[in-house]
Amino acid sequence: MNGANDGRPGQPSAPSEDEAPLEAGESDGAGLEAPPRSKPIYVLEGNTLRTRLTRELGIHYPFVGAGMAFVSLPPLVVAVSEAGGLGVLGAAPEPPGVLEARLKAIQAGTRRPYGVDFIVDRLEPHGFTTRDHVDTCIAAKVPVVVFHWTLPPREWIQALQAAGTRVWVQSGTVELARQALDAGVEGLVAQGRQAGGRNLGSTPTLALLKELRKLTDTVPVLAAGGIADGFSAARALHHGADGVWVGTRLVASVEAHAHPLYKQRLVDGDAGDTAMTTLFGPEWPGKRMRVIRNRVVREWAGRESSVPPTAESEAIGTTRLFPGVLDVQYVMPKFSSFLPTPDTQGDLEEMSLPAGGASMARIDTVQPAGQIVVEMMERARRLLESPEGLDEADEEDRG
Ligand SMILES: Cc1cc2nc3c(=O)[nH]c(=O)nc-3n(C[C@H](O)[C@H](O)[C@H](O)COP(=O)(O)O)c2cc1C
Repeated sequence: MNGANDGRPGQPSAPSEDEAPLEAGESDGAGLEAPPRSKPIYVLEGNTLRTRLTRELGIHYPFVGAGMAFVSLPPLVVAVSEAGGLGVLGAAPEPPGVLEARLKAIQAGTRRPYGVDFIVDRLEPHGFTTRDHVDTCIAAKVPVVVFHWTLPPREWIQALQAAGTRVWVQSGTVELARQALDAGVEGLVAQGRQAGGRNLGSTPTLALLKELRKLTDTVPVLAAGGIADGFSAARALHHGADGVWVGTRLVASVEAHAHPLYKQRLVDGDAGDTAMTTLFGPEWPGKRMRVIRNRVVREWAGRESSVPPTAESEAIGTTRLFPGVLDVQYVMPKFSSFLPTPDTQGDLEEMSLPAGGASMARIDTVQPAGQIVVEMMERARRLLESPEGLDEADEEDRG
């Protein structure tokens, strides 16, 4: 453990606020107004790389682990936070009691800031994220809660904020981001079209980042999609991100709760090896995901709308849901959207393997998550010392 600050407002943050550069409109006390904020928005000081994100949360690196249902369980969250980033729990469709147990496990493993990510579907009458989940976060004093897909009810945002929790929204569109800012969120994650997993975006990461950057100069904007090494992280920071939100790279980590053969697919995969599809999901139908183009994805390409209903379909394997807490055995129906974990039996060619190709192109090996965080950010810091080459560098926007 490396500190007691939990990242919530009013907590001491490191490095100290008086070291922070002035923001637009702030006064330096000598009668001089700070100039309007302009690039670069990071500050290199000695051996540190600081942004609004690191200052607000008191974390060492502007690195956030994506909240990934099933995969980012407490061991991964703790590893990322202890390494100096922000680990984020991926809340799966689990009862609030399971969430509570996960939060206790995180708090037992680190005193550093962490977050919880929920998928919210306001169009779904029986959505799996409920006010009880929000209240569980409030009771546990979670430092950051992130919502994805649609906006949560405003009263959830207000209740969390009243309890001292920062609320962020991950968005694939300018419109949703604008609505989120109107609702008072304190952070945005720009989800580019190359991002692995559930994805509503159609704009490449850096292009969307710049669009969201134009919307706000007062809350952190993170970049998500295709960020998997020091170069891609440096490029995102250079183009205006306050931090990076990293998914696929962390699935290929020792602590990720993912099947070893799935992790190996991420090491072997390349840009262009994924597809955006609505194929998967008797559990939550018709939602777009970026996944590895395995056999089932190739076989059903262009025929996603003719997928048979669950009742008529065969089983493709078994898995264990809510591991370590409820341990529910689950028979995976064909087209299940549940990804393979170490508990899963069955043929991975039949399963949903969420991933981003642009990220896979940058993954060479499965590593401990803490090492991934430190190596990625230290390399990014070195690259930002002479960032000229980052201006022209095109992003790989094939997923
Ligand atoms: C395996 C996997 C599972 C994911 N699950 C979730 C999730 O439960 N909730 C969510 O908001 N985003 C989820 N995402 C999307 C990430 O939040 C993020 O947008 C994406 O990983 C960024 O792109 P990258 O994978 O290239 O890093 C998932 C991504 C992956 C790869």
